[in-house]
Amino acid sequence: MQLNPEQLQAVQYLDGPLLVIAGAGSGKTGVITQKIAHLIKNHGYQAKEITALTFTNKAAGEMKERVREILGRASYGLRVCTFHRLGLDILHHEAHLLGLRRGFSIFDQKDGRNLLRDITKSDDNSYLNAISNRISNYKNAGISPETALEFAKNEDDALITKIYKEYVKRLLAYNAVDFDDLILLP
Ligand SMILES: Nc1ncnc2c1ncn2[C@@H]1O[C@H](COP(=O)(O)OP(=O)(O)O)[C@@H](O)[C@H]1O
Ligand SMILES: [Mg+2]
Repeated sequence: MQLNPEQLQAVQYLDGPLLVIAGAGSGKTGVITQKIAHLIKNHGYQAKEITALTFTNKAAGEMKERVREILGRASYGLRVCTFHRLGLDILHHEAHLLGLRRGFSIFDQKDGRNLLRDITKSDDNSYLNAISNRISNYKNAGISPETALEFAKNEDDALITKIYKEYVKRLLAYNAVDFDDLILLP
């Protein structure tokens, strides 16, 4: 693929973080794969020193394949994975710093829902959903149960932050993390 001038500029820029915003099918993946090849072929980087992150496993597989087509063997050791996968790898290395033990498990949405059911003693699915979403939002914003309580505006908020606190405590007791933790904890 012959890069256009803007694509070439994005590939060759190495002086710091670079944000590229471009539409679907405009060549974003092509730019990233070409950039990886450029770093390895022309700048002495090894594949194992580079990590490329995507949102889905499908996109990661596609990107890996496209780099392999360009570089062949030189691409071995390149890490292309989802944000969550990288988070999990980091947690495996650093679990001890978080009070997690080896072989911790990952709660999926259903496991998390069951935990909330235990905590709240409620069987109301829409209520459990709402709480689950609130907790997820707190985690994605990096807000701890303590901070959430400080900012609680009413009784309702205060109750949810209590549930949130209990949820975090019980997850740890189960030696488990949820999907949001794969981003938050690293
Ligand atoms: N400069 C270019 N010249 C020719 N084809 C290109 C160019 N840039 C992108 N393409 C082609 O457009 C298609 C979409 O590219 P891709 O990198 O998958 O886009 P995106 O990741 O933005 O959706 C691919 O078939 C790619 O080869
Ligand atoms: Mg793409």
